[in-house]
Amino acid sequence: MARSISHGECVLIIAFHRMSTHRVAPSRDLRHFLGRMCFSDQLAAYHGLIEQGLDKHLPASTTRPARMHEAMRYAIEGGGKRLRPMLLLATAELFGADGDSALPAAVAIECVHTYSLVHDDLPCMDNDDLRRGRATTHKAFDEATALLTGDALLTHAFALLATAYAAQPALAHSLIQELAATAGSQHLIGGQMEDLLAEKNSNATTDDLEFIHLNKTAAMIETSLVLGGLVGGADETHCATLRTVGRHLGLTFQIIDDILDATADTETLGKTAGKDAAIDKTTYVKLHGIDKAQQIAAQHTQSAIDSLQSLSGDTTFLVALTNAMTKRAN
Ligand code: IPE
Ligand code: IPE
Ligand code: MG
Ligand code: MG
Ligand code: MG
Repeated sequence: MARSISHGECVLIIAFHRMSTHRVAPSRDLRHFLGRMCFSDQLAAYHGLIEQGLDKHLPASTTRPARMHEAMRYAIEGGGKRLRPMLLLATAELFGADGDSALPAAVAIECVHTYSLVHDDLPCMDNDDLRRGRATTHKAFDEATALLTGDALLTHAFALLATAYAAQPALAHSLIQELAATAGSQHLIGGQMEDLLAEKNSNATTDDLEFIHLNKTAAMIETSLVLGGLVGGADETHCATLRTVGRHLGLTFQIIDDILDATADTETLGKTAGKDAAIDKTTYVKLHGIDKAQQIAAQHTQSAIDSLQSLSGDTTFLVALTNAMTKRAN
């Protein structure tokens, strides 16, 4: 069922549209520059920096085998919201790092996220034809190429971390350890496994659902913040707070994803609407209904903001981004 778009959502759509068209040159220290900008301009600035980082840190599409590298770039360049790299960069800056030093880690997390989408869309998983407003990688290329593209993006993320942070071995080790744990069988992949097991399972419980959402989605959002903190030199106490923020924001993010799947239209989403009900996924909408799911999302958003505001430093952008992700239209 389509619903009308609120004014707040219009502002967000415009902001995200501007992010995909606006290019901002990377700056050695974005903090002072960004501090004077309004939220949508800050989004555009981060987005420009991330697009340039992706272009710089992925192999050229002409690299042999060209089909492989074209597919990697096709999957990445599809125009995602870039939430995870944005959280990473903003958190790194909160702890005093400059945008350039955090950029390889931001590219790495977007590579892992995009790999997870390429595989998530495969016929043996969610069987989706549309992603980020265009044909899924297996539709634009073929299934085997999409499988290999996901493998390549995942592997590239770790190669990039090992190379880009080689001069700071302790940091490289922490970044790789954090991302590997999150991408692994007990988090992202484990969440995806239980997501498939819970399909058409009328015995799936709210605890099962929380495990799925915490692991398939919230873990990567948590890690985006933690990687940013690590690049910025955050201590263990601060990293623990960042984990709390990420867990709540991640739960909100996936609950909203479930709600949008049931309420938004395919064009706005850039992916097939109504898919969860069609394949009988266990979601917040299925187990709680839309109103209750919205209430739970709002509680997690507030908890994320409360934890963010317990950090010292200027968290205005991160709070606004958290609110924006709650009100997002796609
Ligand atoms: C989609 O993530 C998969 C989920 C975890 C819900 P996003 O909604 O962040 O997708 P992109 O990166 O903007 O395409
Ligand atoms: C996907 O969840 C989560 C991951 C890709 C890890 P969904 O299957 O709900 O994501 P969409 O709706 O296809 O983007
Ligand atoms: Mg899925
Ligand atoms: Mg899916
Ligand atoms: Mg979904």
